[in-house]
Amino acid sequence: MIFYFLVQKMTNSNVVAVIDFGGQYTHLIARRVRDLGVHSEIFSWEVTSKELKDQNVRAFIFSGGPNSVYDNEAPKLSNETMEFILKEKIPILGLCYGHQFISLFFGGKVIPGNQKEYGHTIIQINDKSNLFKGFDDENNVWMSHGDKVSQLPSGFNITASSENCEIAAFENLEKKIFGLQFHPEVVHTERGSELISNFLFEIAQLKKNWSMESYIDQQIREIQETVGENSVIIGVSGGVDSTVSAILLHKAIGDRLYCVFVDHGFMRKGEPEQVEIFFKKDLNFKNFYRIEAQKEFLSKLKGVSDPEEKRKIIGYMFIETFEKFEKRLEKQFGEFGFLAQGTIYPDRIESAQPSKTAAKIKSHHNIALPEKMSLQVVEPLKELYKDEVRKVGRLLQIPEELIDRHPFPGPGLAVRILGEVTQEKLDTLKEVDAIFIDEIRKRGEYNNYWQSFSVLLPVKSVGVMGDLRTYEWTVVLRSVDSIDAMTADWSKIPYETLASISNRIINSVKKVNRVVYDITSKPPATIEWE
Ligand code: XMP
Repeated sequence: MIFYFLVQKMTNSNVVAVIDFGGQYTHLIARRVRDLGVHSEIFSWEVTSKELKDQNVRAFIFSGGPNSVYDNEAPKLSNETMEFILKEKIPILGLCYGHQFISLFFGGKVIPGNQKEYGHTIIQINDKSNLFKGFDDENNVWMSHGDKVSQLPSGFNITASSENCEIAAFENLEKKIFGLQFHPEVVHTERGSELISNFLFEIAQLKKNWSMESYIDQQIREIQETVGENSVIIGVSGGVDSTVSAILLHKAIGDRLYCVFVDHGFMRKGEPEQVEIFFKKDLNFKNFYRIEAQKEFLSKLKGVSDPEEKRKIIGYMFIETFEKFEKRLEKQFGEFGFLAQGTIYPDRIESAQPSKTAAKIKSHHNIALPEKMSLQVVEPLKELYKDEVRKVGRLLQIPEELIDRHPFPGPGLAVRILGEVTQEKLDTLKEVDAIFIDEIRKRGEYNNYWQSFSVLLPVKSVGVMGDLRTYEWTVVLRSVDSIDAMTADWSKIPYETLASISNRIINSVKKVNRVVYDITSKPPATIEWE
């Protein structure tokens, strides 16, 4: 059966099927549905009626996607699947590409928009009786499209319009089919969740059947069932994802869990030591090992400046170091049956794993691990977003400082030093970053931002300190506000804070004479610079 995503089933009722047409936000749709307390699954657009039959689907949401509906390669649900959905009279909500697909299927027209629409748009709502129930006349929504529906299929009405897109929303009440040109699943659409809620509870009449507490119990049970009597090895980094995974596993199998922390030297200042203390002393993990491999990693990166190449080398080195140590442990304690990982959902979507139609953005290094290893994989958090992992962490009573720690990429500071990584640049960036984080913590601002960090540019510029000319590196401060890393806006850090950070960096970090602040959102930029 072709489906990518199975949220925990509490009962077999009320399944919302999200049809994936390759959009970057597909998983976010499923996530919004479960935030509203309803079980959802993602299915490929190639799904057959036979595969859907046993799923007890009570509503469909058709995702967005990068194609034009007229492309030869455009993903389309087969006529046979559509007939099944229509015969069963299951409500459908189409979003962006999904909205255009519905239009085309029922005989409407889609044209390339002469003005592409990206970002915030105001829509005028003309019909507030169904999907827009409880809304005002206007709403601020998030558009991201080139093509648009230019002619309604018969039996459909326009329910909302924007300046550049007359058919921004449509409905066919009799068939219970709804379409939105914009994205209610992204946080930038005001009251987007309410739109999805109206669809789930008002239109499809679903009942709540999903919660995070039950997810933990279910995961522990699933780990026990999957792993049986085997021992499990996990790579931990001190980040919230691998820590939560390790604790879930520890709860499930106790000291049959072996934690390996590869210290590649690209972590923040002082962190490797903190990680070791936390696992050994605070969590009392009997089998925790820190491998100091800083020199080996750095020497492998000598002369390498391409970001993907760097990520690949670090990924490869990580595997090699990890595997070598695993063999040593196996000699001592016997074979491991499983490798556990802290992979979360955005790690997978950024590497374009969940859908063949999604475009590849960058490879996240923790993805490469299982492909090269002979062990079976357990990934207890693979369906969750970061904020959901934090919720799980709180329920597991992990200390707040660790749960709230800003996300950190697997390859660490190596992808925050543009170009070749050297010891000198690493030492410089560690100092800069420690000052940035210390300042925002001291001012009680740390938790106002989703992720804050520094980037070192291998660019020298001229400055003056005292009476002397300087010619040194530039550092970038990057801080973003986000919910799930899929989209992000730059944080509005107060000027006074930025001024203190900049002063402290320039006055105390030798190799830096210029500090800039990154004011780019995602998209179009990514959060990390490499
Ligand atoms: P980007 O730069 O893709 O980052 O917008 C999105 C989020 O993912 C983090 N990130 C990574 N996490 N391994 C990870 O575990 C990686 O290779 C990696 N690259 C980026 C990034 O810090 C941000 O939170």
